[in-house]
Amino acid sequence: MAQYAAITGWGMAVPERVLTNADLERMVNTSDEWIRTRTGIRERRVVGPGEYTSTLATEAGRRAIACAGLPPQAIDLIILATCTPDRPFPATACTVQANLGISNAGAFDLAAACSGFVYGLGVATSMIRSGMARNVLFIAADVFTHYINWNDRNTCVLFGDGAGAVVLQPSEKPLGLLSCVLGASGKDEDLMAVDVGGTRMPATPELLEQGRQYVYMQGREIFKLAVRGMGDSSLQAIAEAGLTPADIDLVVPHQANMRIIEATAKRLETPMERVFVNLDRYGNTSAATIPIALVEAVDQGVLKDGDRVLLTAFGGGLTWASAVVRWGRP
Ligand code: ACO
Repeated sequence: MAQYAAITGWGMAVPERVLTNADLERMVNTSDEWIRTRTGIRERRVVGPGEYTSTLATEAGRRAIACAGLPPQAIDLIILATCTPDRPFPATACTVQANLGISNAGAFDLAAACSGFVYGLGVATSMIRSGMARNVLFIAADVFTHYINWNDRNTCVLFGDGAGAVVLQPSEKPLGLLSCVLGASGKDEDLMAVDVGGTRMPATPELLEQGRQYVYMQGREIFKLAVRGMGDSSLQAIAEAGLTPADIDLVVPHQANMRIIEATAKRLETPMERVFVNLDRYGNTSAATIPIALVEAVDQGVLKDGDRVLLTAFGGGLTWASAVVRWGRP
């Protein structure tokens, strides 16, 4: 059985429609200046008619499989990290499997909000290491704008839609995940949530009238916990990989807020030149921020074979997760 699972293919997909800060200025009482200085976001992508989590996930997955140079039928497991599935049931991963014309693969969704990519990378790698899967298509996709109240300036400026995907394959060489630290604090679940639509609070006309189907959050509290969770788990993941922060070539953090990213970099004593940021163009795409950033880092020549990259994320749940990955194909 292979000891490692290398990332051999990658791809991303975002909707065409761009929503700028200037557009938001016309929708709520906000300003481009406030959004840029408090978050670092300039614009984000938002789905249009006929676009859902599965359509973005399918496109990202198709590109990742092509990048890996595999026939789709070689994929034997599909994992989709999302907290915004097409439907509550069945798993959106099954829709993606059908869309890609893959027949001999298991398919399931994984929900860890914005930490979903790092959580899923751990699961996909473990499946390969155990021998239960060989060629895994792992996608992270979210259409978070579905849960946005476009009259709520506290949340509507932060999020965008998108998908990123990777293919993982067995490797004898030390490539792919070198360490992975997962964390959660369920007691803080109400700091950020969507209340209505699940089994605890089914949708009723009254609740929908009150807008309880939309996301709410306590931004300032989440900010503090994000900096702590990402910092602590990053240092632990680096140590578990037998490295020090100075050995990390590139940090690819969850893209939620520029100030959270800068505070995390400071905690790791890492200069911002070694931190990849594309938050200005996509906003917070939830689980998809890290794989979208990985694809763009490779395209821009910032992430190269042999590099040791730190991934670190934080999200609803609350959840946090960090991993060290050695980039390159076997
Ligand atoms: N435009 C103008 N003013 C605004 C806006 C806006 N879009 N949003 C809030 N304000 C106002 C507030 O009402 C408040 O006004 P007040 O002082 O009169 O009450 C003021 O700005 C300051 O609000 P704060 O909450 O203190 O602003 P802060 O500097 O903390 O920034 C922010 C807010 C950007 C939300 C920040 O706290 C943050 O990014 N937190 C992390 C949130 C996050 O990333 N959540 C996603 C987690 S990942 C996942 O699971 C999807």
